[in-house]
Amino acid sequence: LVIVLDFGGQYNQLVARRVRECNVYCEIYSYKTELEKIKAKKPKGIILTGGPNSCYEADSPTYSRELFELGIPVLGLCYGAQLMMHVLGGTVARADVREYGKTEVWVDKRDSRIFQDVSEKTVCWMSHFDTIFKVAPDFEITAHTADCPVAAAENVDAGLYALQFHPEVLHTEEGTKMLSNFVLNVCGCAGDWRMDSFVEESVKQIRHKVGSGKVLCALSGGVDSSVAAVLLSKAVGSQLTCVFVDHGLLRKNEGDEVEAVFGPKGDYDLNFIRVNAQQRFYDKLAGISEPEEKRKIIGEEFIRVFEEEAKKIGAVDFLVQGTIYPDVVESGLGGESAVIKSHHNVGGLPDYVDFKEIIEPLRDLFKDEVRKAGLKLGIPEYLVFRQPFPGPGLGVRIVGEVTEEKVRIVQDADAIYREEIEKAGIAQGIGQYFAALTNMQSVGVMGDERTYDYAVALRAVNTVDFMTAEAAEIPFGVLQRIMGRIINEVKGVNRVMYDLTSKPPGTIEFE
Ligand code: XMP
Repeated sequence: LVIVLDFGGQYNQLVARRVRECNVYCEIYSYKTELEKIKAKKPKGIILTGGPNSCYEADSPTYSRELFELGIPVLGLCYGAQLMMHVLGGTVARADVREYGKTEVWVDKRDSRIFQDVSEKTVCWMSHFDTIFKVAPDFEITAHTADCPVAAAENVDAGLYALQFHPEVLHTEEGTKMLSNFVLNVCGCAGDWRMDSFVEESVKQIRHKVGSGKVLCALSGGVDSSVAAVLLSKAVGSQLTCVFVDHGLLRKNEGDEVEAVFGPKGDYDLNFIRVNAQQRFYDKLAGISEPEEKRKIIGEEFIRVFEEEAKKIGAVDFLVQGTIYPDVVESGLGGESAVIKSHHNVGGLPDYVDFKEIIEPLRDLFKDEVRKAGLKLGIPEYLVFRQPFPGPGLGVRIVGEVTEEKVRIVQDADAIYREEIEKAGIAQGIGQYFAALTNMQSVGVMGDERTYDYAVALRAVNTVDFMTAEAAEIPFGVLQRIMGRIINEVKGVNRVMYDLTSKPPGTIEFE
């Protein structure tokens, strides 16, 4: 285990992902985590992340000196590097020149273990206004840039390493090598954490935990809950019951598709219950336009419907949730990041379901790891690589009040959009894409008649981790074809727009 201590930087999850790409298991903890807790985890290494503060200011995130005296290798990145120097007696202050972006770094200590097989001159991603002016006692400067005398430093005997830049960002061309040098060479991790072992271990652990107990799972048909359900089905077979709530905010035909895979005619050993609760959700959402309120209503109603089904089933021993690691972190439970949206699948637990314990088999995995686990489990590719779909469904893709009519419009437009993207052969190159319904109505003309209809927004983004994203480039001809079909085939739409916004400042979904 490697622990990533989160000081509030924006790339913290990336650090964890890169470490896992070296087949080393790691977890993110807040910098507020007590030293005793960290020690108890017996990590082989600790990585301090970047962060937005100045380490020399009184109320900035910090950590006690003991962290660096545990005999466990520590790698500080950006803020983490500055903090290491500051706490251990070096000098950090505001620099005259702010370094931002791709920067050439000269490696001065060619035999540094962290720079093993790294070029003498290498491009790194810098983003700092403070700089290390003097390294702490017993540290040696190992790299510099044109503006920054300390781009890297180390105290080999103490196992302490500091990098002013961000090796976790892909713009740092040899960053993965540096991180892998740290976790494999310096920390001595074995690098044998793989998906096969994850699946085998999980099945074993679940079997052991569940015994002959009954297990209940809320299945949404999305990647996460599908992989969780199949994992459980492999482990305990028909002791598992999956309840699929069709809340009427699914993509076109999706309810039937989920039933085809997991229902009695499907491939898996489990009990499948589909609840058609569409109208209940539409009724509850009538007149509501505030995004967080909509999210809460959908989340709560989902729980109520689920509870009612659970009551019919009676007492169970375990409840399965398809929570994945970014959900945990984004909901403010793991690291330091602020809560941006209240996530549907974290936190809200059914009060009245009679169960003893929660099972969250994917709680430690990133999305791409969940997909790998899905493939290992033999889940069909089309399901494993399905577009991510938010818990509140089309509810967050319809701006303003949700009505049955609007659901129909966005479902139809989205189906056309997906069909055309697939036909154009560009689906694999896009991270996530969908149609959304803006709440805007505007004037148009169709067949000599004035129209006053809705505008559909097409969203397509490329993203590594769904924390940041950029609009995908779709050939204009394809966009035009989609526009033409949507206007012609979807009643109630007279305008189609393409959303160019990155995340940040936008989010991927609309609400
Ligand atoms: P945002 O809109 O926050 O979306 O940029 C990031 C990713 O998360 C998905 N998303 C959700 N997933 N429950 C989920 O399970 C939710 O409440 C939720 N909200 C957004 C979104 O589709 C994108 O992939």
